[in-house]
Amino acid sequence: MNFSLSSKAITSTKSDCLVVGLPEKGEWPESTNQANEALGGLIKAMEKSGDISGKNSKTSVVPLIDQPWARLLVVGTGNDTDRTPANYRKSLIALVGALKDGASKSALIALADTAVTGDDAVSSETAKLSLIGRVLEEHLYTFHDYKSDKPAVSKLNKVVVQATSTAKAQKEAFNLGLATGRGMNYTRDLGNTPPNICHPVWLADQAKSMAKEYDCIKTEVLDEKQMEKMGMNTILAVGKGSSQPPRLIVMEYRGGKAKDKPYVLVGKGITFDTGGISLKPGEGMDEMKYDMGGSASVFGTMKVLAETQPKINVVAVIAAAENMPDGGASRPGDIITTLSGLTVEILNTDAEGRLVLCDALTYVKKFNPAAVVDMATLTGACIIALGNHATGLLSNNDELANELLAAGERTGDRAWRLPLWDEYQSQLDSNFADMQNIGGRPAGTITAACFLSRFAKDYPWAHLDIAGTAWHSGKAKGATGRPVPLLVNYLMSHAGK
Ligand code: BES
Ligand code: MN
Ligand code: ZN
Repeated sequence: MNFSLSSKAITSTKSDCLVVGLPEKGEWPESTNQANEALGGLIKAMEKSGDISGKNSKTSVVPLIDQPWARLLVVGTGNDTDRTPANYRKSLIALVGALKDGASKSALIALADTAVTGDDAVSSETAKLSLIGRVLEEHLYTFHDYKSDKPAVSKLNKVVVQATSTAKAQKEAFNLGLATGRGMNYTRDLGNTPPNICHPVWLADQAKSMAKEYDCIKTEVLDEKQMEKMGMNTILAVGKGSSQPPRLIVMEYRGGKAKDKPYVLVGKGITFDTGGISLKPGEGMDEMKYDMGGSASVFGTMKVLAETQPKINVVAVIAAAENMPDGGASRPGDIITTLSGLTVEILNTDAEGRLVLCDALTYVKKFNPAAVVDMATLTGACIIALGNHATGLLSNNDELANELLAAGERTGDRAWRLPLWDEYQSQLDSNFADMQNIGGRPAGTITAACFLSRFAKDYPWAHLDIAGTAWHSGKAKGATGRPVPLLVNYLMSHAGK
């Protein structure tokens, strides 16, 4: 797909399809007025006759004759006075869907002059160009690698996005959006890859290929022997029941000054979670291939950094293991000494995410982090609490938490904070070890984060529970690419100029 920006008048830009926005109420954007005029009042007339509508996300295709455009795609953008960024995004998603399934090979999208309510970070032209770029990549995505009969590919191969100027600011914003969309799609590819292929060593190979593709990315992989030597016993304990050995994967992107403390991303990389000896029920277990969604979002984010080269230092650490039951597997009752020295009684082998993460959180201390954010499909309880709309956010630092919440708001990739009060910690008291790995049914997402917090005392830390947001279940089953937009937005807000 060829994407570009243009500031040439739309009336002198040829395309198979001109896309304009139509508000339901309120003032029309300039491009819609221009198109209407060039077409002799066609858009006004069709709106009046009821053939097209400005209802948010309604799309209508109008064939044209003897025009620079073979057809017109009108997308409803709803009420002008109440066009939230979320509603604007909905109309973008609708128009990209219509283009994907449509007959046009090329499209000219004039939607960046549609008014959006909110501060500059969401309503400026550059913010809109960025969002358009992301939505284009995100919603043209397909994953047919394992189908013999590939569904028909979209005819669309060239998209031009209209802007007031193609200066540096506009270009950078649009490119960041495209890169974010591609980062999400990489995250989705990894998540959608079947677990017989996507195992810990395969994930490590992905990191090695990234290092090969991008000079700015360095990779180091610790195998089970190196982890044993270091005392990363909880990752090893989780991987023990599998014939696929665990890996600790480290990636570094150094775009900032040598003395700038790095932002550290930690990802849960359980490539398949059977529950281990505390075996999960069979129904829907296939979805546990997405239990590496946290690590996939770390990979996607690193790709965005490599492509856009911001001035920031970022270290990624992925704890990859497969949670399987066999004669070598950990059992309920086992006590393991973590890398930190603290001992953990494993009461449920299905609470494995916190076990792989705790050693990773101890390991990252050596980078002297500015902040650490971990991503994990950690608890079913988070889906019960927040459903599929908000990522669960828990943190030991209010400033970091607020920044992540704000990044989520700006990108529509929202998170919601849950408390990490001391009162919850006692649910992890063990009769035999320093702590146990489960805290009972009440507040399952919080007690999981309480467990992690014990290993994250030395730096500002936040935990994102993405169990409900990293993938869709049901008919549209598949990875979503979240929380890549949130992470990218957060990191960019810390990048120097
Ligand atoms: N990977 C699961 C969490 C999960 C469940 C993610 C459903 C997405 C959908 C995690 O490893 C797990 O099994 N957690 C247990 C914890 C419990 C044993 C304390 C859970 O949520 O049931
Ligand atoms: Mn589990
Ligand atoms: Zn899991």
